[in-house]
Amino acid sequence: MPKDSLSITDNRTGKTYEVPIADGTIRAMDLRQIKTGADDFGLMTYDPAFMNTASCRSAITFIDGDKGILRYRGYPIEELAAHSTYLETAYLVINGELPTKAQLDEWQFQLADHYIVHENLKKFVDGFHYNAHPMGMLVSTVGALSTYYEDSKDIFNPVARQHQILRLLGKVPTLAAYAYRHSRGLPYEYPDPRLSYVGNFMAMLWKRTGAEERYAPNPVLERALDLLFILHADHEQNCSANAMRAVGSSHADPYVSVAAAAAALYGPLHGGANEEVLKMLREIGSKDAVPGYIKRVKQGEMRLMGFGHRVYKNYDPRAKIIREAAHSVFNVTGTNPLLDIALELERIALSDEYFVSRKLYPNVDFYSGLIYEAMGFPTSMFTVLFALARTAGWIAQWQEMLLDKEQKIARPRQIFTGHATRAYVPVDKRK
Ligand code: SDX
Repeated sequence: MPKDSLSITDNRTGKTYEVPIADGTIRAMDLRQIKTGADDFGLMTYDPAFMNTASCRSAITFIDGDKGILRYRGYPIEELAAHSTYLETAYLVINGELPTKAQLDEWQFQLADHYIVHENLKKFVDGFHYNAHPMGMLVSTVGALSTYYEDSKDIFNPVARQHQILRLLGKVPTLAAYAYRHSRGLPYEYPDPRLSYVGNFMAMLWKRTGAEERYAPNPVLERALDLLFILHADHEQNCSANAMRAVGSSHADPYVSVAAAAAALYGPLHGGANEEVLKMLREIGSKDAVPGYIKRVKQGEMRLMGFGHRVYKNYDPRAKIIREAAHSVFNVTGTNPLLDIALELERIALSDEYFVSRKLYPNVDFYSGLIYEAMGFPTSMFTVLFALARTAGWIAQWQEMLLDKEQKIARPRQIFTGHATRAYVPVDKRK
């Protein structure tokens, strides 16, 4: 009997089965042999929300939730945050290795070639209501990109696939900036390929049309935004990565798959939490009101937004880095008065048994919004910034899924709880 195996006795039949253990898992399909008779379909696993199910093999991101460890392709997030750029990290996450200088220069040059979007897309964005949420605009316009590129469905052609990757990474910031400019009633700014990836994004957001020939991003804010994008680049099999993989598994093109992933991220339990944190801090209003708010959370009235995580049962390493980065931003912009409320909330929560027993710590969304707001972003843009940065991770997850010979179209099973068969009743006979 191999030691890496599970011996299962089915007490319904007295039969025993040996199921191999590999990588800390058993294959769910190995349970199908466990039957009570020839007509029995065999055992399945039941795992709502995939609390304990590995859906894939992945080499992109490693998280140790208990130790608060996060690594992209083996590199600790703390080292990438200190030394890398978002563009370099996006290359690493997607291609698996840090680029050489020549590769990085070529990557930057090629991406800059794809910042521009078809002029028609402006009409698309113009069609949105004046107060349309920028995330709703981004989900729609990214999906619309699939209508411009016929080769987008040629997903197993590596040259065509690389072309879509460059288009997505190049154009998502432009679409994000267009959504912002529309929500402000401002004319769209064309991309400026002479600027850095983040600098160009800032220029498309904040260049004052006509008032300045060339936008010069504040280097401290440019660096802070670049750092935030690094921290948000990927996070293994989260809800939006799962959406990207599931939609991509039907061999839909990468644009509509990214639109699906962005739609998942939009939810307040996922990427939408950074916007909810600011609303929560405003609702609390002052440090003195924190204990009362925490009391309501503990009574189950609402959740502490920006706290808790499915995987991290320790402090989210990204939240630590963001909290430190906040100071450099506030030195330029002036501090955000909500920071004191956030720090008091963290101080009290981390010593309260309700949060400690449930291992609820600040996550990536707890402090990021404070920086975004201090930089001048409205809360409605916070999740758009998250989606912009996570586009690299979604692409990496999508490409890894496509090239994984074990993967096929995602199609879970169910436990049927509905009616057994019953005869149709004509409408005049129904009670
Ligand atoms: C992101 O997956 C990722 O990697 C996501 C992400 C990424 O980079 O992609 O890291 C980004 O989405 C971060 C999470 C942002 N969301 C929030 O901050 C929203 C608030 N947090 C939660 O709703 C919650 O913590 C989740 C959704 C993040 C995780 O939920 P789980 O793992 O499903 O945990 P759960 O809902 O089963 O809760 C376990 C217990 C429950 O209490 P009991 O029912 O056992 O008494 O903890 C409680 C929950 O009520 N709980 C909270 C809480 N989060 C969980 N109680 C108060 N406040 C909270 N925030």
